[in-house]
Amino acid sequence: MKQKLIAGNWKMNGGLAANEALLHDVRQGLAHALASKHAQVAVCVPAVYLSQVQQMVAGSGIDLGAQDVSIHAQGAYTGEISAAMLKDFAVRYAIVGHSERRQYHGETDAQVALKAQQALSAGVTPIVCVGETLAEREAGKTEEVVKRQLAAVIHANGHCISEIVVAYEPVWAIGTGQTASPEEAQAVHAVLRGQLKAATEHSDRVHILYGGSMNAANAVELLAQPDIDGGLIGGAALKAADFLTIISAAAH
Ligand code: 13P
Repeated sequence: MKQKLIAGNWKMNGGLAANEALLHDVRQGLAHALASKHAQVAVCVPAVYLSQVQQMVAGSGIDLGAQDVSIHAQGAYTGEISAAMLKDFAVRYAIVGHSERRQYHGETDAQVALKAQQALSAGVTPIVCVGETLAEREAGKTEEVVKRQLAAVIHANGHCISEIVVAYEPVWAIGTGQTASPEEAQAVHAVLRGQLKAATEHSDRVHILYGGSMNAANAVELLAQPDIDGGLIGGAALKAADFLTIISAAAH
């Protein structure tokens, strides 16, 4: 069985001092949380702190992630950050298509696919987020929405699709404290796994993470589902004790 992956998404939170305190505590507690078992751990931080966090996680076994990447490789795109620039800071993961970017920045499926492509071509693993809104769920469209979102990425990146990470993040569960039940999440993960299976013979390699109010109390049950390969953690990743509890729930 592959190791589970627990990735913190700090979103627009933190500061030099707060990052240092948080990572100090996470580093200190990591060996105890893993208890000689294994899980992969990453933190996806605001771009201005990549350099700071790169130094702080060096040698700790914690991987570095970014929260976005440009659809362009370089050039006159003020404010954008390329995948190659992320690579300069030893970034292993870049979140693409988070629902907050789809919602507040109008990111389309096609743009998300291009972002995944840029990341892959620079050797950065895209964490591709998919997920339905409450209205879409209530209209019975969950499967259709997540399949459409993932299909765009598969279409643009078919040859290396087994190199991506997928994160199922139901929009209605993000930051609301209302998590998908393990059964609801597993049902969608199984759909996504099936879609990946049709695209690559290496679909088992792909981590499919769950995100949306995953916390220290519900992580064990969610992570016990057969197609839930880890978590993308928002609020609970900002508290060392909670993040470590989730990591320990993922270790096996
Ligand atoms: P919360 O864990 O705060 O609900 O956020 C989930 C998320 O959006 C992670 O990317």
